[in-house]
Amino acid sequence: MSELATSISRKELFLRAARCQPVPRLPVWMMRQAGRYLPEYREIRAKHGFLVVCKTPDLAVEVSMQPFRRLGVDAIIIFSDILIPAEAMGLRLELEDKGPNLPEPVRSEADVKKLRIFDPEVETDFLMEALRRTVKQAGPDVPVLGFAASPWTLACYMVEGKAKEGFATVKDFLYREPRVFRELLHKIAQATILYLQGQIAAGVSAVQLFDTWCGELDLQDYTEFVVPAVQEIISALGKAVPVIYYTKASHHLLPSIVRTGADVLSVDWRVSLSELRALAGPRVAIQGNLDPAILFAPQEKIRSSTLQIASELGGHGHILNLGHGILLHTPVENAQLFIETGQGAKFSSGVSGSQAALPTRA
Ligand code: CP3
Repeated sequence: MSELATSISRKELFLRAARCQPVPRLPVWMMRQAGRYLPEYREIRAKHGFLVVCKTPDLAVEVSMQPFRRLGVDAIIIFSDILIPAEAMGLRLELEDKGPNLPEPVRSEADVKKLRIFDPEVETDFLMEALRRTVKQAGPDVPVLGFAASPWTLACYMVEGKAKEGFATVKDFLYREPRVFRELLHKIAQATILYLQGQIAAGVSAVQLFDTWCGELDLQDYTEFVVPAVQEIISALGKAVPVIYYTKASHHLLPSIVRTGADVLSVDWRVSLSELRALAGPRVAIQGNLDPAILFAPQEKIRSSTLQIASELGGHGHILNLGHGILLHTPVENAQLFIETGQGAKFSSGVSGSQAALPTRA
């Protein structure tokens, strides 16, 4: 684990970056950091199914802590999945090696009406318990992150049943029955508000909304259908904790993404961080955005790309992360190099808001 080049705790570091306050260095973590690239995770998965790990607090806590112990990341994301609330809303869920499957997808108004807005302490008691225990184990100095899917991304799985490219079925639903589809997004938003409020009560320091599939929509449909549902969640949470909004393949959506009210915008490698900063302004923090495939490259490339990204915002309001989840066969030592390089990145005056000492990306 690298030396912390700072006297403030990881939690304070993370929260300061999320609020665009000066920081002595960048906080660094990785989406999907608890997962199959880690041998200690594979050992647990060899004995237990994926959903069993999610639903057994002892196992979920252990897997959440693994990347912190091994890599010294600056935030611990709770081990769970964005599809857990789909099951809690009443849909059957299978989640094994082939990827997720919902064998009874939502295809009609009657199906939407059947979905339940659930009590997270009852239907997802295992997650709330895992969170409380993880927060306790992490201690007061390390932030634990909660998460949920954005309504559109969860709707993609609920309607399609499986993730596919193009999403013809869910788009057909949206265009044929826009009123019912809006009702579906609203219902997911309502359930997600309670679900995230439960996570906040369990002690998380921030929450992330994953909108992995928003890039499938054009700007108009994204703005008309998705943004109101995302805004509904963000405004209901108030300012209890920072909300990180992750969007993938979303360059064409940025004019509307910056209006969602998220405290932190998390983007993939297709978006220039400085362009996003210019659009979003200095009071919105940014998370990202190393291409996870770069973690297969020679170490010199990992180091130089990480430093380039780390310097792009001069350290102001920046949480360093990958642009999407870490990939399956990533060598652990390369993940370690990313974390250490990011944590060690220097800015000329040692604090954010200043000119970075490193060249910026063109
Ligand atoms: O980030 C973390 O380490 C916390 C845990 C986490 C998982 N999934 C564990 C997981 C988080 C935050 C997620 C989010 C998630 N799940 C997203 C949004 C982010 C993204 O990656 O786009 C999505 C779309 C899903 C749905 C999902 N879950 C898919 C498509 C798959 C199968 C494909 C894959 O990558 O394995 C899963 C399974 C899953 N979720 C695994 C893990 C560690 C692998 C399952 C296993 O151990 O066998």
